[in-house]
Amino acid sequence: MKLTVIGANGMLGRDLVAAAQEAGHTVHGLDLPAIDITDPASVERALPETDAVVNCAAYTQVDKAEEERDLAFRINADGAGILARACASRGVRLLHLSTDYVFSGESDQPWREEDEPAPLNAYGASKLAGEQQVHEARGPSVVVRVESLFGKNGKNFVRTIATRLLDGQREFRVVADQISSPTYTRHAAAGLLRLLESGQNGTVHMTASGHCSWFEFARAIADRLAPDAVVEPVPSEAYPLPARRPRFSVLYNARFEAWTGTRLPSWREGLDNYLKEEGWV
Ligand SMILES: NC(=O)c1ccc[n+]([C@@H]2O[C@H](COP(=O)([O-])OP(=O)(O)OC[C@H]3O[C@@H](n4cnc5c(N)ncnc54)[C@H](OP(=O)(O)O)[C@@H]3O)[C@@H](O)[C@H]2O)c1
Repeated sequence: MKLTVIGANGMLGRDLVAAAQEAGHTVHGLDLPAIDITDPASVERALPETDAVVNCAAYTQVDKAEEERDLAFRINADGAGILARACASRGVRLLHLSTDYVFSGESDQPWREEDEPAPLNAYGASKLAGEQQVHEARGPSVVVRVESLFGKNGKNFVRTIATRLLDGQREFRVVADQISSPTYTRHAAAGLLRLLESGQNGTVHMTASGHCSWFEFARAIADRLAPDAVVEPVPSEAYPLPARRPRFSVLYNARFEAWTGTRLPSWREGLDNYLKEEGWV
């Protein structure tokens, strides 16, 4: 298949380009400045002949989005719409990446695709508006909601904790009241290829199996790198941030499993693979 990846220099985009090439697809990776999804003329110019487009491009600075709301909406909402309409007019299938942050997190049950979104912050609102623009373009498309990504090519929670452990820090205070399913970008990339093969359209949740709090996740990282480190659980209020985060952000993956006949590996397996990839274990 001829596959075009937008946001190809990002954390997920880089792993997706590599995974698609390994799987034998012909891959065209695009990012700024070769394509600017907020500029229709740039999209028209840059989009090659292709069977499918995966949009990993986004404004992803969750806290900064509170003060740069317009920019977040320009990229995550209007940019998504411009790209979706360009794909729809060509009859090209689009996989568009979205987020668990479209939900409020006010539940104890994993979120299903049809649950009512109610974003708590500007980033989540901009991504939800992007989903709506993708649906309104009416082309063959899938909105893929992922969450808490970690991988070699971007800033992420595992790198932050691991770097401090390797620098000798032995005491950590980590929030214990935010629950999610941290997902390794290589596992997410493999999942995206399976979604492409499935031929299905609509909205789908795709995360690692299992879930944990940031505290449990930090503990698991420390157990691998420095078991003597002390990790103390604290409430979110101990770390006030500009953007509110959902409390329970676990996504229900049954639709992904039905569409692909597979599930993503657990967050523990993802963590293990990632630590090895970085050469930290
Ligand atoms: N990271 C997570 O934990 C997470 C969680 C849930 C959902 N997601 C979603 O998953 C997707 C991939 O996330 P990621 O963490 O891999 O993102 P990322 O590392 O921030 O990569 C995004 C890429 O998009 C590029 N970009 C920004 N504006 C653009 C524009 N106008 N035109 C073209 N490219 C543009 C960025 O370039 P610059 O760096 O030059 O700006 C960057 O290379 C995004 O849709 C994100 O919302 C991520």
